Amino acid sequence: MAAIGIIGVGSYLPEKVLTNHDLEKLVDTSDEWITTRTGIKERRIASLNETTGLMAIEAARRGLESAQTKPDELDLIIVATVTPDNFFPATACHVQEALRAPKVPAFDLLVGCTGFVYGLAVAHSFLTANGGRKALVIGSEVLSRLVNWSDRKTCVLFGDGAGAVVLGPVEDRRGFLSFDLGSDGSGAPLLTVEAILSSQPPLSLSSLGRCHTISMNGNEVFRFAVRVMEESTRRAMEKAGWTPEDVDLLIPHQANIRIIDSAVRRLGLPMERVMVNVDRYGNTSAASIPIALEEAVRKKRLKKGDRVILVAFGAGLSWSSCALTF
Ligand code: UT7
Repeated sequence: MAAIGIIGVGSYLPEKVLTNHDLEKLVDTSDEWITTRTGIKERRIASLNETTGLMAIEAARRGLESAQTKPDELDLIIVATVTPDNFFPATACHVQEALRAPKVPAFDLLVGCTGFVYGLAVAHSFLTANGGRKALVIGSEVLSRLVNWSDRKTCVLFGDGAGAVVLGPVEDRRGFLSFDLGSDGSGAPLLTVEAILSSQPPLSLSSLGRCHTISMNGNEVFRFAVRVMEESTRRAMEKAGWTPEDVDLLIPHQANIRIIDSAVRRLGLPMERVMVNVDRYGNTSAASIPIALEEAVRKKRLKKGDRVILVAFGAGLSWSSCALTF
């Protein structure tokens, strides 16, 4: 059976740009604070018709085009998201219908910012176990709907967008070599959107009002992120038989330039081999890695045969990484 790799990439970003200077008018913050503490200069904000589903569908169409793949070749559709259009049905089912894809398994994965690489691992296992050929894995988020726009500690961090990849057969010596996934529920309270509480009576609107925005202990998540990005990358490299010198491009979850800098320094990788676009899009959760991946391909920072690490961390707390030859 042929190896499975990434054969196409696509992304969709809303047109509306919200700059740090725009945020200065909303909350007590400054371009200087946001830039030095996070590296973010601006982020995209979805209009009301730019739903998670719509952005997922558009990114998927672009990914399929770049993979020269027709929707009827798909065996599986996964959408990684923390901002689905509905609690159910899955956003992935809207994607299946809009693409007129065959009636294949389609489901959402909710693992916070870590979800996209989890999606790659699930799709890779599915194709390998079932002899399938092609899968669509999408990360799509409208975090602007979950942000408390009066909380300066979180509202400056997040943005909206979507990215998609098509997995399919690749020739020998290319494709996925290793995955490293994990979670540690002891850190669950550090990053949450409680929304529907199964411990609450039905339709407890008062509790919904209080709980439907992002709550985060930034300092603790920061420490966790730096540690786990290094450790998970090392495990993925080790399983692939690589050392840091073998890596042509590291594409980390785009949350904060200081997290990326610290993790990369611990790994001993030069920043020239690290993809960064957090300055333009902020943290788009499960969409950040496929958006960065598409940009890396478009700007020719990533070419066929390059050795790539994707690494993410997020709510759960959770982490994921993989090594692949592009
Ligand atoms: O995908 C996973 C999602 N989460 C993350 O990746 C978050 C990881 N954590 C972080 O990125 C950083 O912890 C933050 C960017 C959230 C915060 O940066 P920090 O350097 O850890 O700042 P801090 O929370 O220690 O706050 C320092 C000061 C505080 O003021 P005092 O108490 O020292 O007077 C904050 O109130 O900065 C203040 N502050 C702000 N000031 C201006 C917090 N947010 C802002 C703001 N503008 N937006």
